[in-house]
Order: sequence, then structure tokens, then C-alpha cells
Amino acid sequence: MERSKLKSLLAELTLDEKIGQLVQLSGEFYNASDISLGPQRKLGITQRTVDLSGSVLNVVGAENIRAVQKDHLQKSKHAIPLLFMADIVYGYRTIYPIPIGMGSSWNPELIQKAYKSTAEEAYAGGVHVTFAPMVDLVRDPRWGRTLESTGEDPYLNSQFAKAMVNGFQFGLNEGKGIASCVKHFAAYGAAEAGREYNSADMSLVNLYQNYLPAYKAAVKAGAKMVMTSLSTLNGVPSTADRWLIQDVLRKQWGFEGVVISDYASVFELIQHGFAKDAVDAAGKALQAGVDIDMKSPCYAQGLQPLLEDGKLSIDKIDDAVWRVLTLKNNLGLFENPYRGASSELEKTTILTESKRKVARQVSRESLVLLKNDNDILPLNIKDNKSVALIGPYSSEKELLGLWAVHGDRQATVTFEDGIREYLGEKLNVAKGTDIIRDVAFFDQSGMIPGLAKKVISSDEIESDNFKSALATANEADIIIFTCGEHTMQSGEAGSRTKLRLPENQMRLFNALVQTNKPIITVVVSGRPLILSEVAEKSQALIQAWFPGTEGGHALADIIFGKTNPSGRLSMSMPFNEGQLPMSYNYLSTGRPERTSQHVGRFVSRYIDAPTKPLYSFGYGLSYGKVRYHDLQCVNNIQKSGFLEVSIKIDNVGKYDRDEVVQVYIHDIEASIVQPIRRLIDFKKVHIRTGESRAVNFLIDKNKLGFYDQQGNFRVEPGRFKLFVGKSSEDTLEENFVL
Ligand code: BGC
Repeated sequence: MERSKLKSLLAELTLDEKIGQLVQLSGEFYNASDISLGPQRKLGITQRTVDLSGSVLNVVGAENIRAVQKDHLQKSKHAIPLLFMADIVYGYRTIYPIPIGMGSSWNPELIQKAYKSTAEEAYAGGVHVTFAPMVDLVRDPRWGRTLESTGEDPYLNSQFAKAMVNGFQFGLNEGKGIASCVKHFAAYGAAEAGREYNSADMSLVNLYQNYLPAYKAAVKAGAKMVMTSLSTLNGVPSTADRWLIQDVLRKQWGFEGVVISDYASVFELIQHGFAKDAVDAAGKALQAGVDIDMKSPCYAQGLQPLLEDGKLSIDKIDDAVWRVLTLKNNLGLFENPYRGASSELEKTTILTESKRKVARQVSRESLVLLKNDNDILPLNIKDNKSVALIGPYSSEKELLGLWAVHGDRQATVTFEDGIREYLGEKLNVAKGTDIIRDVAFFDQSGMIPGLAKKVISSDEIESDNFKSALATANEADIIIFTCGEHTMQSGEAGSRTKLRLPENQMRLFNALVQTNKPIITVVVSGRPLILSEVAEKSQALIQAWFPGTEGGHALADIIFGKTNPSGRLSMSMPFNEGQLPMSYNYLSTGRPERTSQHVGRFVSRYIDAPTKPLYSFGYGLSYGKVRYHDLQCVNNIQKSGFLEVSIKIDNVGKYDRDEVVQVYIHDIEASIVQPIRRLIDFKKVHIRTGESRAVNFLIDKNKLGFYDQQGNFRVEPGRFKLFVGKSSEDTLEENFVL
């Protein structure tokens, strides 16, 4: 529709029609069998609000969407189509590894491809907007939503944010793809003590330097929407934070798209003690710049009285409605309200071989080999050693993680399926124990009371499982032990203080250790767990995250060496919970542990645990051996605008491999104390066995800068250290002066 026509449409709308465009309700309000009065009454939503509302939450599937849209258009006087928004977070039906796993790929190009594939599936399923990517930086794995983040580093997160938005929105202007809504603005991942929905409190320097870059990268990549967070930042709920939305997002970053609240977060302004009632909450959120109120009655009930009382100008409402209509128009909905929704297209797009192929590749690159004593991996089928696959995740289809809400669980390739493709009948499998046997945990996780008892095996079955696992282990030469968190232990509202494997799994593991057979441990989890004991007692350790639909294939490809592992952690793996929160890029202290002039006690460290994590940011093993040498750094900033960095890498092992070459700096003299090192560039390069190659980086001067206490960016002259290598700890170094 032409802009002028859209303007006329806006002018024709009555006040309640306008307000309707700013209200988002969930599917239950549109599904005839579900329009029970329960939720409507609870929210105080009337049928008129439902008929006028502008968008729908989490209704997916071509047929579903076509039906709801058709019905809505028949009722809508101006035939304004609904926007269908859904949480397509890391896959639609084909599920990829969870984002903390994708972070380990250090391969934004591949991730862009994955998100483009996802968008193709979701497009066929009728979705218009996805509530993703979640780009919240996280330094505390106690937070359950670590699962949805690509990790602890602002630079790496920004590269992924951009890739994900570009993937989702590929071809958007030509009527393809889906629009991306980046979330949760801002600093939701800094929830104090890792407790879900808790407050974030931080300096402007920290906010600008670490937490804001990934949202900014998503906005600059063209994300059409931004979602506010459920939490407060420095005492102000993000959903009513004028400074964040208007100054930072709109003025500083030039964002012109739609801002939406998180689920009920406008209403929750009352609970925060920031608004006195629903009307007040509506005013505070809209004035701050929130256009759409997701799943709360505030805008529907509060905007009209505010206008009548002269507390709100119609211009404010018009601006918000204009942004919503513009998005609908840009997606071509006025011409084709059904857009991609097509059952035929679903059949030829969803879970196809080519989609699975991308998922398998992402999954391979997300697995991180953390330990490989005596090069026990890769396993050689020709050795004819007998392998036992033991543990509760061995034949488990639930490898998708909590936010794969639209994923097809039946389509999962299990670890057993994948390994059997290599070993056939030679593979012996035993579950050994349940994932978790704690009834109280299931009850607290919101499971229907009583259901836990059905999920957990009886004591008798458990004891039989345990015995048969030990018998299977005793007959084998090598044990692959699969273990990990239950799906319900991570994801939204999955904060935990104990990040260990469930006790019953540890009991089984320790019994397996007693057999003295080599153990290859595979960990499934939504966050870095505390693996100190497991690592010590295993010969090899693979962090598998929730690896997605193709997880079983990917694991087998790694175990048998079809793929050389290349995953590198995008988040530190702590030694114990007491170290949290932690990140590799902490600020220099006056008493650094190793280089302080003080000795003994009075340096910055713990007296009962290492200062360092068990495995550091950027760490991960591959098969074979490489040598890094000849680091060179030429400061050509005056002439070419770049710092020119090169390093040579020799592959001296017997396997081709991918290296993630990482570049860090430390600004030694700065007006704001700087991190001991921080990532400024990286490349994932393929090096064949016997090959020796140079890897070059052109570092833009701006990558050397930082933010001051007013949020201004500056690049200061002075001395720097440059580190290039395999991880945040294993590097060569050089000095340079700017
Ligand atoms: C989550 C969001 C999500 C929204 C809609 C909220 O509970 O915080 O991430 O997009 O629900 O499902």
C-alpha cells in the first residue's frame, strides 16, 4: 500500500481501533474452542478488544493462521490484517543447537544460514515476526536463559546477533523471510545472582561496553522490532524506561521500528511498584516508547481514560499505531494477509533433507571437545573395540531444549541412532538411570502434580536399569556416558544454584568409573555446568548442549572422526558455583594474582578455589596438533587505518582441522580501567594436515576504543598488548602503541 493510503487509513481509524493495533493477545483468544471466558475475564479483555487487536502471540501453522486471519478480516471494518508473532528462537520444526551451543561454533556465517533455513520453515507456517534473537549477554550460568544467549562476550554476541537477524530477514523486502524482534532490551541477562526476572544494576561504562553492543548490532542489521525486558535496569523497569527506548534506541541508534513489551511487563509495572494501577502503567509504558502491549489489559483499558484526562496526547498513540501499520505494510500484509502461510509449502519446506543437513553441520560445530586424554578420540571402528553407550540421554529424543516450543520432537536423531549408524548391532545401550529422580523438582517446575511420578521410574525399574548398565559396561572396552540436565532445569524461569549433574547420574557415573574402563562423557545441558569431578574422572569430555534435531548424527560424526571438532566455548565453564558470576574479560585489578608486587595472601584470588574457570572462554580441542608462531603486528593506522596482524599456523597432526584464531587486546593505559583482555576479532580457518598458513587480520582503529562514564565512545592513544591464539588463555603476545 502506498504511504499516502496508509496515512489515510490511520486517519480513518477510531480511537478504539487505534488502541486495538497496540494490543497483542495470545492464541486462546482466537481459537473458537478456546475463547473460554476464563482468560478473558482474568485479563479483563472484552470480545471487542479481541476483534480489534492488531497482533497474535504464538499461533503457528499455515492452516491455523489462515483460519484466524480470515475470521479476523471478516470482522475488521478496515480489513487490517493481524500480525502473527511467535517464539522461533533456534529453529521452527527443525531444531538447531540452543544458542549457547551455536555460540561455540564461532561461525556467524553458518548461523546466518541456519536462521535463513528457520525463516523458510516459519514463513511456510505463516509466521510474520519472530521474538528472536535473544542477544542478552550473560556471565552467570545460574540464569536459566543462558540457554538462549550466545555467551559472555560483547563482540562475539554482536557478530551472532547480526547473523541471526540477517538470516531471519533474508529476502524480507522481496516478500520472503520473517521479521526479527530482538530482545530483551536491555541487560536482562545481568539479573542479579542469576535469579530469573531479577534486577540489573550496573555502571554506564559496563552497560555500553558489554551489554548494549549486541542489541545495537541487531538494530543496525535492520531488526524490525525490539522487545523490552521484564526486569529493571538501575531501578527503572525497561518497559517504562524513556532513556533506554527514546534516547539510546531511537535517537542514538536511529531505530524506527516497533517496540513491544515482554509478556505482561506493562501490567507488571504495578508489581514493580513503579505504576499505581493499569491506567498509570499504560501511560508510563506508552510515554516511554512501548508501542505494543503484549498480553496485558493495560493499553486496552488505560489509554482512552488517559487521553480523556489530557494525560496523553493522541500524537503519541498515532505514532505507535503508525509504526505497527508500517510494519504490516512492509510485510505486504495489506496485499496478501496470508503471506507465506501454505500447507503445500509446509510440506516441501519443513524438515527436509537440506534443512537437516544445515542442522547437522551447526550441531557438529557447536559440540565442544573439552578433554581427550591419550587421544582416545576419535574412535576407530576398525579397532573392533566394543562400545557401550550408557546413561539417561543415550536414547532420549528430548535433545531440543526448553525454547524449542514449535519443534518436532519425534524428528530427533538420538545419540543411539547416530552411533548405531557407525557401529550397527555391535553397539550396546543401557539407560542406567532416569535423567532426574527428584519428585520435588518436577513439582516445583510447574509440572502437573502427580505427573512426576509417571516420568520417574519405580525404584524397582531403576535398580534393574542400574544393574544392567553395569553389566553392559563390564562387557565393553569403552564406555560412552551420556548425562546432563533435565530440559526443565534450564530455559526461562530455570535459575539454579547447584549446577551439578543430578545425584542419581553421579551415582551411576561413579559406579562406571569403578569398572576402570575408559569413559567418554557427553554432557547435555542448557548452560555451562560444574563438571570438575566429571572431567577429572573421564578420559574424554564432550559438551553437547541441547544439540537439536540432528544432535545424534553430529555427536557420532565427532566421535568417529568424520568431523574434527571445532567448537570453542563462548562462555567460561566455572570450576565451582562460588566463582559466579564470571567472565574472562574482567577489569585489571591493582593486585593481579600472578603479577602483583604483593606475595602470598593479599592478591585478587580465592583462597579455596582457583581464580580461573575449569575451561576458559574460547577453549576447545580438535583432533591432531597445531603450532602457532610468528605473531606480527604492524601499526598502520595512520596510513591505512588498520592495525595489521598476522600469525602463522602449522598443522603438524594427522587430521585436517578448523582453527578458531582469536585476537584479544589489553589497553594498558586508559582513562577507564580496561579488561585484562577482550576479544576484538576472530577467524575460523580450515587447515589441512601438513599445511602451514598465515592468518591475517585488519583491525579497525575503532575496535581499540571503549566507552566512558557518560556513554561516549573514545579511542585513546597509549600502550596496548595484543594476544593471538587458540583461546582466551592460550595465546602469543605482542606490544603496540597507538
Ligand atoms: C519471554 C519472551 C517471549 C515471550 C512471548 C516471555 O515470557 O520472556 O522471551 O518472547 O514470553 O512468548
